[in-house]
Amino acid sequence: MNDIYSGKFITIEGIEGTGKSTAMHYVQHWLEQHSIPFIQTREPGGTLIAEQIRQIFLKKQAEVMEADTELLLVFAARSQHLHQVIWPALQEGKWVVCDRFTDASYAYQGGGRGIDAQRINTLENWVQGRFRPDTVILLDAPVEICLQRTMQRGALDRIEVEKTEFFERARTAYLKRAAAEPERYKMVDAAKTIEEVQQQIGRILSQLHMH
Ligand code: TMP
Repeated sequence: MNDIYSGKFITIEGIEGTGKSTAMHYVQHWLEQHSIPFIQTREPGGTLIAEQIRQIFLKKQAEVMEADTELLLVFAARSQHLHQVIWPALQEGKWVVCDRFTDASYAYQGGGRGIDAQRINTLENWVQGRFRPDTVILLDAPVEICLQRTMQRGALDRIEVEKTEFFERARTAYLKRAAAEPERYKMVDAAKTIEEVQQQIGRILSQLHMH
């Protein structure tokens, strides 16, 4: 799909509490061990301007944020991130590992907020053209387990305060996308122990490295 780049674009997805940060650390360790040049980044964010959009996006305010506003904000941040960071790094032959990307828009704004997938797809094509992740690592675990983990973190942001059903819908949307394209989406059972999760991720990266 992304033939003009020599680097690989990997995204890590999953609802809150699936262990994305731990997975990001492990991916960093694996790439360093294999001497693969890479950058790690996140969405929404990853550039000065996109990080400012992230603050607006996550901050709890006295005014309700409209679902379309959410969607447009994440795609505004994404446009900046792609042009300033992701595409230049891939052009230099680096691997880019991104903590969330457009699948999160389908899961949260699509599944969570109920925005039609077609509309999200319109923005995806507008902002990204045909560009898509080479591999999406989807960390999946039952919502109750995930929310128990996030509760222990202290202050919750504007999305984390959502109800269980919101995260159920987000999880369902992720799983549906993964099932539709099994060669690009790699599922990881995030309810397992850290060691088992790391082994699963290591296998995914080895496969990707060979191709
Ligand atoms: P996190 O990366 O620290 O988990 O926080 C980012 C939050 O933003 C998370 O709750 C998911 C949400 N999000 C969306 O709703 N849509 C998006 O497109 C992205 C990238 C993130």
